[in-house]
Amino acid sequence: MSESTIESILHENRLFQPPSAFSQQARIKSLEEYEQLYERAKADPQKFWADLATQELHWFEKWHTVLDWQPPFAKWFDGGKTNISYNCLDRHLTTWRRNKAALIWEGEPGDSRTLTYAQLHREVCQFANVLKQLGVGKGDVVGIYMPMIPEAAIAMLACARIGAPHTVVFGGFSAEALRDRLIDGKAKLVVTADGGWRKDAIVPLKDQVDKALAEGVVPTVENVLVVQRTAQSIHMEPGRDHWWHDLQKGVSGNCPAEPMDSEDMLFILYTSGSTGKPKGVVHTTAGYNLYTHMTTKWIFDIQDNDVYWCTADVGWITGHSYIVYGPLSNGATTLMYEGAPRPSNPGCFWDVIEKHGVNIFYTAPTAIRAFIKMGEHLPNARDLSSLRLLGTVGEPINPEAWMWYYRVIGGERCPIVDTWWQTETGGIMITPLPGAIPTKPGSATRPFPGILAEVVDLDGNPVSADEGGYLAVKHPWPGMMRTVYGDPDRFRRTYWEHIPPRDGQYLYFAGDGARCDADGYFWVMGRVDDVINVAGHRLGTMEVESALVSHPAVAEAAVVGKPDEVKGNDIVAFVTLEGSFKPSEELKNELKKHVVQEIGAIARPGEIRFSDALPKTRSGKIMRRLLRSLAAGEEVAGDTSTLEDRSVLDKLREGA
Ligand code: WT7
Repeated sequence: MSESTIESILHENRLFQPPSAFSQQARIKSLEEYEQLYERAKADPQKFWADLATQELHWFEKWHTVLDWQPPFAKWFDGGKTNISYNCLDRHLTTWRRNKAALIWEGEPGDSRTLTYAQLHREVCQFANVLKQLGVGKGDVVGIYMPMIPEAAIAMLACARIGAPHTVVFGGFSAEALRDRLIDGKAKLVVTADGGWRKDAIVPLKDQVDKALAEGVVPTVENVLVVQRTAQSIHMEPGRDHWWHDLQKGVSGNCPAEPMDSEDMLFILYTSGSTGKPKGVVHTTAGYNLYTHMTTKWIFDIQDNDVYWCTADVGWITGHSYIVYGPLSNGATTLMYEGAPRPSNPGCFWDVIEKHGVNIFYTAPTAIRAFIKMGEHLPNARDLSSLRLLGTVGEPINPEAWMWYYRVIGGERCPIVDTWWQTETGGIMITPLPGAIPTKPGSATRPFPGILAEVVDLDGNPVSADEGGYLAVKHPWPGMMRTVYGDPDRFRRTYWEHIPPRDGQYLYFAGDGARCDADGYFWVMGRVDDVINVAGHRLGTMEVESALVSHPAVAEAAVVGKPDEVKGNDIVAFVTLEGSFKPSEELKNELKKHVVQEIGAIARPGEIRFSDALPKTRSGKIMRRLLRSLAAGEEVAGDTSTLEDRSVLDKLREGA
């Protein structure tokens, strides 16, 4: 975040009461109600979650143990049997919701589709049967590399139905990134499409899959299923590749949901960390189902006649939890949009809201800042009066953007839920409940009932009000990640050892800096580790550096974030070259392209700076703090006495 954003957040003190019209119809109607709920959950978390699990989910068999906590490993509802696909589909079929719209889909070129619960159930069952016919069973990992089309959600639900964990890889990731994830997850099958529409162009997904699987480097993948979306010509590998529509033809629309153990793996989702390759975050069945169900119900307050739209991609956790599982488990109508605002139609989001009468809209601060730039005339030209609740996620929202969202999109009548959470937490952790908690622009406000969040120092001691510290969570919660796939030790190191356990009390370390004000409101300030949040996407500095160093011209690279008006942060790479290479504009462009090829367009450095050397400590550690100041064009402040060669700093300054 830029200094000015931090300044404005520090001095923000506006308070917005929930509109009474909203509170009256909301599930949680007042601050008192929230506080009672919160205290009840805090006093006896196990009873709190167990009661909700009984009331809100279908179980084939009841659990015997609510929580088995062997820090840092948790088991929730052990002994129970359930199935999230059953909870999202089957149980609604015996109610009036059978013929309610489950999924409304809007394609970028203007095509659209609506699937009722009965229709979605049928398609999911058919696809589950297709997977079974191809030998996919319980425990087999399925890779999903898809555009934002209904088949992405259908594939996820079909996997969950038969107990095959899915690993969805964002369609914007490169073939190399896809390959790494398929190898790590030991995927047996890949579901993809010939292509997808994004910003008026076709993303060649199947070509990327072919590259990822070339030369048999991913030996576990036996079959590839291809949805026909864009109808351009693609290669179909005989024996390996099959068209979705061919295999779906004539297959039974009946496939009973497999009773899954509560702790059976539901999915792996890869996310960037400060070290090494992206890690596979593991979520399991029952706890994740309950947590996404409850957070959707109380935070988005979806009522039966609402149309709810979350603009995320299913390749991210937000898409998993709040496009697919949370809304469908609640029997809601969830909208899915294939496109993104683009030059040919910068107002497309407002068109979608008007066309479908969207009532609840959930997007990212980076998108809001882009809308501000595009101009108020775009939303003002559309009827947005159907909206009654707005949400944001992904990064801190600056109060100016919050106010614009409130005024221009929400017409000053919609509460805003600024939701703080992570891939690892499974669902939203700190957030207003819209009918109950007054909001302050830039603050995610207060923890969800059952979540014991704190701001602490590195010894795990709570810091005083308004003092900066590390965001931590004290008690396990049902939606928490269970482990890093194949690397439980990394799970322990990354999240549970930064703050040493005290008296057997373990604290989950989120990797974010935060402060808590005197009213108990949390203000999240951004990452404190080597993770950069670019347009709401998480990138590890190491990941980008490894991509750069894999280019023959690069000897050494250091990557830092620099404040950016729209993206929040942009990537700046400091690069030293191998002897025979000379700095040039062409080389900069080539290196940017190389990073895109290695990771994906989201990792493209905004700026590359060549330099003879990088500033290091005497023990050889790159001093990123100095590079961050240099990248931001600020004076290099603070202690530089540990710098090994002080002239490096002067040269870097001159070089800029
Ligand atoms: C990181 C998690 C889970 C949603 C999408 C991102 C940042 C997320 C907020 C918020 C301030 C936020 C944090 C967090 N973040 N939401 N409302 N206010 N910061 O998931 O890729 O796992 O990234 O996003 O830094 O640690 P993710």
